[in-house]
Amino acid sequence: MTRAAAIAHVTDTAFWVGALRANEAKRSDAVFREPLASLLAGTRGASIARAMPDAALVQWGVIIRTCAIDRLIGEALNQGVERIVNLGAGLDTRPYRMTLPPQTRWIEIDFPSLVQWKDEVLAGHTPACVVQRIGLDLSDRAERSSLFKVLGSTSIKTLLIAEGVMPYLTNEAVADLATELLGIPSFYYWILDFDNSGARKIPKRWAKQLKAAPFLFQPGDWFKFFADCGWQVRNVISSAEESERLNKSYPFVFPQGLLMRALPREMRRKIMSVSGAALLAKCD
Ligand SMILES: C[S@@+](CC[C@H](N)C(=O)[O-])C[C@H]1O[C@@H](n2cnc3c(N)ncnc32)[C@H](O)[C@@H]1O
Repeated sequence: MTRAAAIAHVTDTAFWVGALRANEAKRSDAVFREPLASLLAGTRGASIARAMPDAALVQWGVIIRTCAIDRLIGEALNQGVERIVNLGAGLDTRPYRMTLPPQTRWIEIDFPSLVQWKDEVLAGHTPACVVQRIGLDLSDRAERSSLFKVLGSTSIKTLLIAEGVMPYLTNEAVADLATELLGIPSFYYWILDFDNSGARKIPKRWAKQLKAAPFLFQPGDWFKFFADCGWQVRNVISSAEESERLNKSYPFVFPQGLLMRALPREMRRKIMSVSGAALLAKCD
């Protein structure tokens, strides 16, 4: 069956991921329930998610990475982080879902149209901490630099998050961003999701759906790429580790799920360890 591409702009990927988080609430074994996710993603998000290939697999991956990142945020807060800057925040609703110190300042950055939509839908809902949203195209270097300059003018210990965002940037754009973030003294930590399976060709059915928002980032060795940009790993939570912790096993989909079940546990674990989430800190 051929399906029309559902994603017309990279902001649509936020609706896609939002719908996947909303879906989690419908499961009897849900690991979290995020009622605002369905409000934000709505029918648009649901139809995008339905049109994408490998729905069950992607759903599993997004839920696993969401939980892993929740835990890494907790770790950063324990290290004294007072401000969180979520780059490409999309329709993420962590400030409404997580228990956070109320004095935490949470800043979300994404394209202006998405920020406007989020502001409208979330008006009247109360977050657990202080939330500010900023509409900005992160590839606009001048605008970005002046925002970082403002954020960097205070010494507030800051955690950066970029979840599901790097794939849409080129290697050069990621390196440029990483280097700029490194230069801001108050930016201590950075949480990112990773896929270290190496450069590979995106399957055709994916390439078609993602024509307007292609996966561009091909770092080779993900950890080396960021270390070369001055960011070293402080903690890693692999998909294998998080799925075991949550008792949420690799989905039973054909053919990947069948193949995974046929493999010895250690090999399955190894395959699932190429992806996950990492907390990075500046290299000494
Ligand atoms: C797959 S979504 C992930 C959203 C969110 N981080 C989450 O996990 O729910 C990717 C997000 O990156 C944002 N994004 C991609 N390129 C961007 C850019 N140049 N400037 C601002 N946001 C960008 C998109 O608009 C989208 O919201």
